[in-house]
Amino acid sequence: MNSQSNPKYWAVVPAAGSGQRMRAEVAKQYLQINGKPILQITLETLLNHSSIEQVVVCLASDDQHWTSLPCAEHARIISATGGASRAQSVLNGLLALSSTTSICNEDWVLVHDAARPCLDQHMLDKLLEELVDDPVGGLLAIPAKDTLKYACGTDQRIERTLDRARVWQAQTPQMFRFGVLRDALQRALEAGLEITDESFAVEQAGYQPMLIEGDALNIKVTTPEDLQIAQKILETNSSN
Ligand code: CTP
Ligand code: MG
Repeated sequence: MNSQSNPKYWAVVPAAGSGQRMRAEVAKQYLQINGKPILQITLETLLNHSSIEQVVVCLASDDQHWTSLPCAEHARIISATGGASRAQSVLNGLLALSSTTSICNEDWVLVHDAARPCLDQHMLDKLLEELVDDPVGGLLAIPAKDTLKYACGTDQRIERTLDRARVWQAQTPQMFRFGVLRDALQRALEAGLEITDESFAVEQAGYQPMLIEGDALNIKVTTPEDLQIAQKILETNSSN
């Protein structure tokens, strides 16, 4: 048994979305960048980190592509069935971890979008290092650069200007203690909240997750233009 002083690290990769905004024939995690499926690139980054024990990938129930990926057979990968929402997919992944591994409540779980293939190892190291003694967890995020306006209703008129110094854009990985995250997601889903990231569920449970400054290049591939941008970023990363 590992104790709180020696927690292990695990990862969950939600990959059960259909990529509506990408408008492609296949879900965006299976589109290729430089000849490699996005999901394969994302999983390799996590598998290449020696501290991560195992990675759970959460797949759509009608997924037809997973088994053709080289990493589908990897010894450190477990697959789980995703859910109707990203939060449900992540919770299913956490439950798969608890039923198939020795995970403890104090262990760390990194949740990372399948659609963020540009994460680099330095950012992963930074997240692990800065949270090492934290009781709850936190996430990679980017301090806002532009002045931010908060709109009133839907008529595109400004209600107020936000204090930019306090606004951050959330990314993934988001890393939390397993017990904290599982309970927070379960409670938020039962309450019917719209959960857009893990941190939101943890905030709703009364915690204040830590913001760790990330890299703007860790983009989420969302629309067709993002494919070219991600390709450029990955080419630059690999030449450094
Ligand atoms: N995701 C998931 N289960 C869902 C919905 C989303 O596992 N029910 C995953 C996606 O596969 C993606 C990540 O959550 O890796 C972030 O979601 P997003 O970028 O919104 O992806 P999609 O939901 O697939 O895209 P869209 O919103 O454009 O349909
Ligand atoms: Mg979505």
